[in-house]
Amino acid sequence: MPKIAVTRWIPEDAAKILADAGEVKLSAADRPLEPDELREFVAGSCAIVSMLHDRIDGDLADAAGPGLRIVANVAVGYDNVDVPALAERGVAVTNTPGVLTDATADLTLALILALTRRIGEGERLIRAREPWSFHLGFLLGSSLQGKTLGIVGLGQIGQAVARRAAAFGLRVVYTGRSRAASEFEFLPLEELLRTSDIVSLHCPLTPQTRHLIDAVALRTMKRGAYLVNTTRGPVVDETALADALEARAIAGAALDVFEREPEVESRLLGRENVVLTPHLGSATIETRTAMAVLAAMNVAAVLGGDRPLTEVRP
Ligand code: DGY
Repeated sequence: MPKIAVTRWIPEDAAKILADAGEVKLSAADRPLEPDELREFVAGSCAIVSMLHDRIDGDLADAAGPGLRIVANVAVGYDNVDVPALAERGVAVTNTPGVLTDATADLTLALILALTRRIGEGERLIRAREPWSFHLGFLLGSSLQGKTLGIVGLGQIGQAVARRAAAFGLRVVYTGRSRAASEFEFLPLEELLRTSDIVSLHCPLTPQTRHLIDAVALRTMKRGAYLVNTTRGPVVDETALADALEARAIAGAALDVFEREPEVESRLLGRENVVLTPHLGSATIETRTAMAVLAAMNVAAVLGGDRPLTEVRP
C-alpha cells in the first residue's frame, strides 16, 4: 500500500477516502511540525497531505524520497509550496479552489461589518462591564451604503465578495493583474487606494504581492479608509500598518491573516480600531470538510494512476 503522510488532523470524510487509497500516517502532534520533524515524518511517502503552515520545497520532497507522487495542499493558496521544485522532481501539486469561495467571502463581509460598525469594541465594552447607555452619539460607526469598496484581486473570492458588497449598497471597484470580464469598474492600484473607503485584499501571495500594502500604499489610502485582509498576511507590511494606525493615516483594519502567523504585531493588539481573527476565512464545518475531501480525492486520483482534479502548474 502506498504511504500517505497527513501533516495534521483532517475531517473523517477525507480520512476515509485516503484510507481506501493507501496506508495513512497522521501526525500525532496537535501543532505544525518543525522542519526537521516534517522531513522525518514524510520519509518514504508517496503522497503528502499538507497544510498551509507546512513549508514544502525540494528538500522536503527529497526527504520523502523518489516514491513521492503528489503533494495535496489543503488550501486554495499554495505560497507554502515550491511548485517548480516539485515539478522538477515529477511531483504533482494540488490545491482546493472553489470550495472555500463562499465561506471566505462571508467572513470578509463579517470583518467589514465588524470594523465599520465597531462590533468588537462594543463587545469588549460589555464584557468588561463598562457602564453604558443608549445615546445618539454612542459608539458610532460608518454606513456602507454609497461607499466604495476597492477589491485587490478579482479572482473567485474577490468576485464573491464583490457580489455580496453590491447587495449591501457598496459601489465596487477592483484592481488586479488583468481586467476581468466584470460589471465592476477596473482601477489601477494607486487610484483604487486613493478613492476607496474600504480596501479588501484577495490577491494570492507571490513575490509581486509581498508587501503590496506598504507604507506608501497606506499613505495613499484615504484617512477615513479601512483595510481588510483575508488572503495572506505578508501581502501587508504589518509594521507599516501599525505605524499608519498610530498616525491615524487610516481609520482601521481587519485582519484574518498575519505576516508572521500565528504571531501578531504587538502594536495592533491594543488598538480598538483593529479587528483580529485567527485565519478563519474557510472555517466552517462544511467548507473545511469539502477542502479536505478535495485534497483526498486528488491523492486517490494520482495514486490510482489518474490525473489530479485540481493541479497547480508551475
Ligand atoms: C486557503 O485555503 O488558502 C485559506 O487561507 C485557508 O482556508
